[in-house]
Amino acid sequence: MHMEKIERSDKKEFWKPGNMLYPLPAVMISCAAGARPNIITVAWCATVCSDPAMISISVRKERHSYEIIKQSREFVVNLVNEKLTFAMDNCGVKSGRDIDKFSSLKLTPVKMHTVSCPGIGESPVNIECHVEKMIELGSHTMFIGKVTGVNVDKSLLDEKNSLRLDKAGLVAYLHGGYFGMGKKIGSFGYSVKRKK
Ligand SMILES: Cc1cc2nc3c(=O)[nH]c(=O)nc-3n(C[C@H](O)[C@H](O)[C@H](O)COP(=O)(O)O)c2cc1C
Repeated sequence: MHMEKIERSDKKEFWKPGNMLYPLPAVMISCAAGARPNIITVAWCATVCSDPAMISISVRKERHSYEIIKQSREFVVNLVNEKLTFAMDNCGVKSGRDIDKFSSLKLTPVKMHTVSCPGIGESPVNIECHVEKMIELGSHTMFIGKVTGVNVDKSLLDEKNSLRLDKAGLVAYLHGGYFGMGKKIGSFGYSVKRKK
């Protein structure tokens, strides 16, 4: 294809820079430094490396959780299902400076294996992370966490012990809204698999 033949489409408006990468997970990050553990909701999160498994979360310095994660250098990523969505939103509008989010939302702190902060018992998957790097980006500081262990709800394991995450009722964050997962479209590599 010759570049000079490509024309701009009038179907689209061009906007100034802004965040438009959606859908994203909105996760509940549990953390602790001292007696009272806290939970912060984070949508600016991503898988950033497979081996070692690594996750990034971006947190504003003003958040109560920022100092906690900076000091303790650990956090737990708790995946959010439909039942947890109200609590996820609430942890994203109230600060741990003012309230104990575990008790006010009747969430169960559960002991993890490799970090001292608790995970959220009601979450289907708790991912334990140790902070490897902090990167100042502007409004947010990115904490890059190395995954040190994953806790999965036994009810999501099938008879072959395979994880059925599609049965977890996970929720996506899309431009200000929370959505359930839609129908399955395909699976990894289906575009190149021979049809039976
Ligand atoms: C859906 C959603 C996504 C959010 N994503 C982020 C985020 O990625 N980073 C961040 O710093 N704050 C984010 N927030 C805001 C914090 O969760 C919120 O300020 C919270 O009250 C901070 O709690 P803390 O002061 O106890 O740490 C988000 C809030 C919501 C509702």
